[in-house]
Amino acid sequence: NDVSHSRHESNLNDIFGNYDKWSYQSPSLHHNRNHVVLFHLPFQEENDLPKPHRGSINWDFNHVRLPCSPESLYTEITNQGKVLKSRWHLIETTLLQPILNSHELEGAIKTYNTRYESIWNFSTLHELFEVHLRSEDVTFFFDQVLPNLIRLALQLPQLIQCPIPLLKQGVNKSISMSQQQAACLLANAFLCTFPRRNTDKRGSEYSNYPTINFNRLYGAHGNHVIEKLKCLCSYFRRILCVEMPRNVITFQRRFLKDHIDWNHSEKKTSTIEYKISSTGKIEDAYGMLQVDFANRFVGGGVLNQGCVQEEIRFLINPEMIVAKLFTESLLDDEALIMIGCEQFNDYTGYASSFKYAGDYSDKTPLDSFRRRKCRVVAIDALPYKDNIEQFKEFSIQRDLHKAYLGFFNDSTENSPVATGLWGCGAFNGHHIRAALIQFLACCENNRNLVFYSFGDDQTKKEVEEIFNLLVERQATVNQVFKTLKNFRNEINSKNSTSLLSFIKNHFEVKTVPESKQTSLFNFVIPKS
Ligand code: AR6
Repeated sequence: NDVSHSRHESNLNDIFGNYDKWSYQSPSLHHNRNHVVLFHLPFQEENDLPKPHRGSINWDFNHVRLPCSPESLYTEITNQGKVLKSRWHLIETTLLQPILNSHELEGAIKTYNTRYESIWNFSTLHELFEVHLRSEDVTFFFDQVLPNLIRLALQLPQLIQCPIPLLKQGVNKSISMSQQQAACLLANAFLCTFPRRNTDKRGSEYSNYPTINFNRLYGAHGNHVIEKLKCLCSYFRRILCVEMPRNVITFQRRFLKDHIDWNHSEKKTSTIEYKISSTGKIEDAYGMLQVDFANRFVGGGVLNQGCVQEEIRFLINPEMIVAKLFTESLLDDEALIMIGCEQFNDYTGYASSFKYAGDYSDKTPLDSFRRRKCRVVAIDALPYKDNIEQFKEFSIQRDLHKAYLGFFNDSTENSPVATGLWGCGAFNGHHIRAALIQFLACCENNRNLVFYSFGDDQTKKEVEEIFNLLVERQATVNQVFKTLKNFRNEINSKNSTSLLSFIKNHFEVKTVPESKQTSLFNFVIPKS
């Protein structure tokens, strides 16, 4: 796709002049107690597909239960009574039969998920193939893509040879895998093979984990769901019929218990640089720490109805969906960092107008461990009903800590943070509050900030005005924090003012000279 290609390249030229300045150091990639690497290190040949790391597969509460594990069984009623049989054998024999259309695919998937035979609905998957795709694309899918996808899924025992740990709450742990291993796991998710992942009943083993099998997506409604399916089919077409990607990716769960004492932080707001932009998107901010406006169940509704910032990110970088396999829901003091995931798809629109817009050729360079220099941090805001709730001290502290730990500067990671209206869409947060909270989190971490207001000129203007004022007044983090807290009393008062005026009144308005504004912007952000 020429358009996305040229857009990307001009962005690279714009941005990489500054890239080294941000001292991107690769977070390390070595097998140890806190980092499970699913492939063999060191790499043998520079361009070879990484080989799987060997170990014994565990079937227990601490690891992903793989469908190919010998312990994955189902009960068959025979003349001799109930017999336990290998579910993987059933999966293999079912999927190796010819599958010529989406109804046969549904039948195959339900053969090894009999409990859901009358519950799962694949109507949108059928609609994709029967109404929306050209007949040559449908033929190509069932002749080429699906057989290759099945072959890849069935290679699971060869490709994953050591146990995949669950990234559980309260534990700092990382998992690295090759893009090929990620693709194999996604192929299994597409075919709904993962055991014990089909119920979210309270108390069930995985009720605190995101959905991973794709079945809900196949029955979710709306044109945007058709477009979501196109993204995923296109990803499989690219990796199976064009070229299997050869690099690696890392998922890192970060748990940070130590809280900042926001009431006493003397950090100055003038120590960081910032840029507010009403054009451009987070995913185009190459080399920066890009924020995923997450759900505590990472990926949110990507495998269902959802189609806002997080879901779209997971659709254009489908390898992120793998995180749903092993990431327990995030606690208030946790984030998930996804390193190296490749962008395969382009898109237009948003939510119900979302559309797949063809292939995307990701030119992001690799780090020394063969990961793309792309870091995305999933931090979940809280959904708020109203202003009273979001300006409670607890809520402000909670979101500040979440942003602080997400942006944590561990000295390997001090590139600017690329973010925007975190918590302000589906979660109904206050724009200026979200900007200030993330601004303070950046100040505390000494990280520069790019704030995308996503086409909202008014918000851009207001955020710029406030940040400039705070810097001009040499405000400290604790002063801004206290002002935010005090705004709650204002909401309760009869003559309430806006947060913007409240902050302006508090820090005494002074006109910021133009020259002062531009001197702050000495790093470039990508053009949209
Ligand atoms: N770049 C910059 N800004 C964006 C982009 C983008 N690519 N996309 C959207 N925005 P939202 P939340 C702006 O609603 O409120 C999901 O289901 C846009 O102005 O996705 O934190 C998650 O899984 C939008 O209104 O984030 C959670 O369940 C605003 O960012 C839930 O939504 C907020 O985007 C999180 O909701």
